[in-house]
Amino acid sequence: MPASDGAGPRAHLTFRQPDDWHVHLRDDAMLAFAASYTARQFARAIVMPNLVPPVTTVAAAEAYRERILAVLPEDCAFTPLMTAYLTDEIDPGEVEAGFRKGVFTACKLYPAGATTNSAAGVTDVRKIWPVLERMQTIGMPLLVHGEVVSPDIDVFDREAVFLETVLGPVLRDFPALKVVLEHITTEDSIRFVEAAGPTLAATITAHHLRIDRNAMFEGGLRPHAYCLPVAKRRHHREALRKAATSGHPRFFLGTDSAPHRKHEKESACGCAGIFSAPTALESYAQTFAEEGALDRLEAFASEFGPRFYGLPLNEGTVTLRREPQDLPEVMGDGDLRIVPFHAGETLSWRFAGRSGLP
Ligand code: DOR
Ligand code: ZN
Repeated sequence: MPASDGAGPRAHLTFRQPDDWHVHLRDDAMLAFAASYTARQFARAIVMPNLVPPVTTVAAAEAYRERILAVLPEDCAFTPLMTAYLTDEIDPGEVEAGFRKGVFTACKLYPAGATTNSAAGVTDVRKIWPVLERMQTIGMPLLVHGEVVSPDIDVFDREAVFLETVLGPVLRDFPALKVVLEHITTEDSIRFVEAAGPTLAATITAHHLRIDRNAMFEGGLRPHAYCLPVAKRRHHREALRKAATSGHPRFFLGTDSAPHRKHEKESACGCAGIFSAPTALESYAQTFAEEGALDRLEAFASEFGPRFYGLPLNEGTVTLRREPQDLPEVMGDGDLRIVPFHAGETLSWRFAGRSGLP
């Protein structure tokens, strides 16, 4: 558990090695850059499959896993956990084969058109009923981007409407299917998860704990605060902070760190996504400290996720030191200039390393 330095504020925190239960590592030139930050802080990560083309086969996931491992140092002790991208046509046999082979850890449901590279996603959840049936039978988790895509539904209401119209029926028809509602942004989702049985959990990002929708309009249009699901009103953010720090075992860490090049965010049609991987743990620690809940960070970051997935807890530890850390305005160079979450800010914590590495 976190070390204390006596009566004063803790000078450092050492806790069980955490995992990131939702991250975008990208491919090609971006991959080494993104993966290095995630592998630095986390032992495992659930890697999103929304590449171009998406990861829909066992062979594609194996090849992607190899590409991830190839850009990391051999001794980095990081395990990418791969996911299958669900399409209207995906074969339940392929999904099951990948799960049994230990290649796929879970399947990801993107409603078609909901977000970055989701065009090949599911157009009507009924079309994947046979896949969900199979996943329920074999105990394979379903990870959900929980937003409807209808242009008639206000962008700030899309998550709440999804709960009623899509997630409710899925849970009703597949009562034993494990489901993770990813990157929740609303009080509605918190209440929905709390009211559900033990098969439904949710991930909470570092950024949704810190920004509300005003962040996108502070003195002008702020593309680096734009992600999907979009940040909501202040009271939703406050509810997320309470849920994440509550010690409820079905809320756990998933950064949704999603790098996009600076110029692709600062554009007439800017990409959705916030790159939080470089200081993910520091950001969560800052929020937990502000909520007076540092003693609950370890469970949120390192215990609830693996327990829900049925995976072993990690053995090593990480340490964060309480010391000011200035973040740059931009990271990377050449064609890979990326504005990180907290750019230009000073954080109160600094990642000091992992123990238990070979
Ligand atoms: O903000 C987001 N960015 N939300 C998503 O769902 C996808 C992600 C990305 O891939 O850029
Ligand atoms: Zn995501």
